[in-house]
Amino acid sequence: MAKKIATVKAATKSKVKLASKEVVQAASPKTTKKPVAKSVVAKTVATKLVETKRIPAAKSTPSKASKPKVRSETIKSWYDYPELYELGFLKETPKESKFLMEVFKKYVPFPVQRVLELGCGSGRLICDMAKRGYAMTGLDLNPTALEYCKKKLKKQECVGELVVGDMTNFSFDEPFDAAINAINTFRHLETEEAALAHLNCVAKHLKPGGVFVLSLHLLPPDGDLWGTERWSAKQGEMKVSYALTVVETSMKTRLEKLRISMLVKEKDESFRLSDHITLRIYTAKQLKSLLAKATQFKLIGVHDFWCEIESVQKLNSEAVDTVLILQRV
Ligand SMILES: C[S@@+](CC[C@H](N)C(=O)[O-])C[C@H]1O[C@@H](n2cnc3c(N)ncnc32)[C@H](O)[C@@H]1O
Repeated sequence: MAKKIATVKAATKSKVKLASKEVVQAASPKTTKKPVAKSVVAKTVATKLVETKRIPAAKSTPSKASKPKVRSETIKSWYDYPELYELGFLKETPKESKFLMEVFKKYVPFPVQRVLELGCGSGRLICDMAKRGYAMTGLDLNPTALEYCKKKLKKQECVGELVVGDMTNFSFDEPFDAAINAINTFRHLETEEAALAHLNCVAKHLKPGGVFVLSLHLLPPDGDLWGTERWSAKQGEMKVSYALTVVETSMKTRLEKLRISMLVKEKDESFRLSDHITLRIYTAKQLKSLLAKATQFKLIGVHDFWCEIESVQKLNSEAVDTVLILQRV
């Protein structure tokens, strides 16, 4: 299969209009390819980063202390730094892709080829799934992230369609076999109206029997509203330490504000970039109530972020990091 994938030529540039927004770049697959068999070992994820956004260089300020102060900058959006953003998730990506393949095999009554990712960002899943032979389409609000994804696809000699657009209002001509919305992207939709518009739009674009794989963190009834999650990742001589802290939360508005901080250490410089994001809060009960309104979908499976196909959960108050399998009826 690795050989087969290598025959897929680099993306063809074309301009397409979508949801009244112009597509900065869309590379339409010339061929649709069958996904690889489970036993086939896919090529490893590209680990060399492609530079798309210039990371500000640290100014050399004389310091009295022996340890130089790390320069900090508040950025507009951490999604504008796709190479730094995705480094924190690259290690898990192949596991997530393999899980998606297993989901398609288990839950979809026909072979899955065309897959749509909503809020694809840097395209870590788009690229990994394209390598595995899927015809991937990615939609995101952020053109910088899509440009980064485009370069990566080209480098790995894969095709993929990338569209700048809003996941609450988009339109494609051809239906998809499956759709995905990963790691809390859905929670960026701050109102019930937006969440329902998203579910309806996804349903409209799925073939009957096709699935929407929706991953999000749920708040358990006795869950801690505050806290910091820390992790780090290395790429060559660069190490990035991530800290995601809940700084504001309201059960009334059902919104939480999080501060994301990325401490970047390179050979000769260190700097910290930080940003705030707002996410909608869901308990299992609130999510169930929303899904009851999305009548085009039937909940046919619940898993968790461990990505184990044989480990089936329930959508109840014990569910935390949840992966829902919603089938288009
Ligand atoms: C947490 S990132 C996830 C990126 C990618 N799915 C992944 O798994 O790495 C969330 C992405 O959703 C995008 N996004 C947020 N709101 C959106 C909207 N209304 N429509 C489309 N994309 C949106 C952001 O630009 C960002 O790239």
